[in-house]
Amino acid sequence: MNMDQLKRQAAARALEEVRDGMQLGLGTGSTAKHFVELLGERVAAGLNVIGVPTSEATRADAERCGVPLTTLDEIDHLDITVDGADEIDPELNLIKGGGGALLREKIVAAASDRMIVIADDTKWVPTLGRFPLPVEVIPFGLGATRRGIEKAFAECGVSGQMAVRRAKDGHVFVTDGGHWIVDAQLGRIADPASLAKALSAIPGVVEHGLFIGLASSAVLAGGEGIRVIE
Ligand code: 5RP
Repeated sequence: MNMDQLKRQAAARALEEVRDGMQLGLGTGSTAKHFVELLGERVAAGLNVIGVPTSEATRADAERCGVPLTTLDEIDHLDITVDGADEIDPELNLIKGGGGALLREKIVAAASDRMIVIADDTKWVPTLGRFPLPVEVIPFGLGATRRGIEKAFAECGVSGQMAVRRAKDGHVFVTDGGHWIVDAQLGRIADPASLAKALSAIPGVVEHGLFIGLASSAVLAGGEGIRVIE
């Protein structure tokens, strides 16, 4: 089974948790896209759900698949968010934002009763940090913000190269919120909760890709089958 088939399997397993009438957060990325497509098939067959997309890309996918959409201004909570991740540790802490949607993803996950993470099992790691940590920043005053981030890294015992993310065409990558992303190669984050707190306190940092205590379960698809971790 190839990677894409594994991602679809994880998405299909998460779909089993969806019930009629639910309000759903719809994640971003190649794995979440499988979930939106499978959900669209169930909607076409009569399932009544409504979704909040975590990016403009997911909005477009959901519209194409016929999934009805709403916003967090029109409803007061979500039952389940189903989203991918770049790394998942045994405490279900995550690194997210490889697709650049971390800000909306975190707002949507925090508004949800449950967050189900779907992934192929290569995303499962003993310690977060191999994947570069995305930090979403305001372009204004970036030098000062970068120095603040470096200080936070030093206080939390991590260090590594930082680079402003570029799109494939070489231009600076701009998020759906109009911000930039700095990716930090940290290697190993021994205390993700402390680092998350320190980054959140820096003026100019809009959000970061550490999702601490947000995920309720992870559905991991691998060669041996599906593993659900809670
Ligand atoms: C987007 C994300 C994605 O969920 C993450 O990058 C995983 O993507 P994929 O399912 O394509 O591996 O956080 O901001």
